[in-house]
Amino acid sequence: MMKWKYLSNSPEETIELGKKYARRLKLKDVIGLQGQLGSGKTQFVKGIAKYFNVKDIVNSPTFLILNEYIGKDPVRKDDIKINHFDFYRIESINELDILGFDDIINDNSICLIEWCELAEEYMNTNLRKVKFDYSNRENERIIDF
Ligand SMILES: Nc1ncnc2c1ncn2[C@@H]1O[C@H](COP(=O)(O)OP(=O)(O)OP(=O)(O)O)[C@@H](O)[C@H]1O
Ligand SMILES: [Mg+2]
Repeated sequence: MMKWKYLSNSPEETIELGKKYARRLKLKDVIGLQGQLGSGKTQFVKGIAKYFNVKDIVNSPTFLILNEYIGKDPVRKDDIKINHFDFYRIESINELDILGFDDIINDNSICLIEWCELAEEYMNTNLRKVKFDYSNRENERIIDF
């Protein structure tokens, strides 16, 4: 598979990149977003949500573990559900069970998972990954598909 590396110079650019990336997404896709605190994962999710015309405010679900958004596929015109997870505070597989993680990812939705690496060993899912890195410039981020 082809690998892409992008440089983003602002939060707005990362949102735009998310919006473009969203065009290739379809129901049942599970995307893992990796990268340190503040590296831009949530900005990217904002872009994906924008593409799907989500009206809710997109925030990091760090304290909630899961946010659910309903949007619309701009091409097919049908409603689409986006499950936005953040596993930063997940401590054991138990919590994934309580959350009903397996059912949620097999549901008809697009799943976006921040800090997916913290739960990856418990998932037997094929994750596609997007990686976010700081560079030595303040507002620059390196984004890898
Ligand atoms: N090029 C850039 N792309 C994305 N965010 C940027 C960029 N430059 C600066 N920022 C800032 O970095 C922060 C990124 O925050 P964001 O919530 O997206 O990070 P995150 O990876 O989701 O972190 P967390 O793990 O805490 O959820 C924001 O404050 C944003 O304004
Ligand atoms: Mg975040």
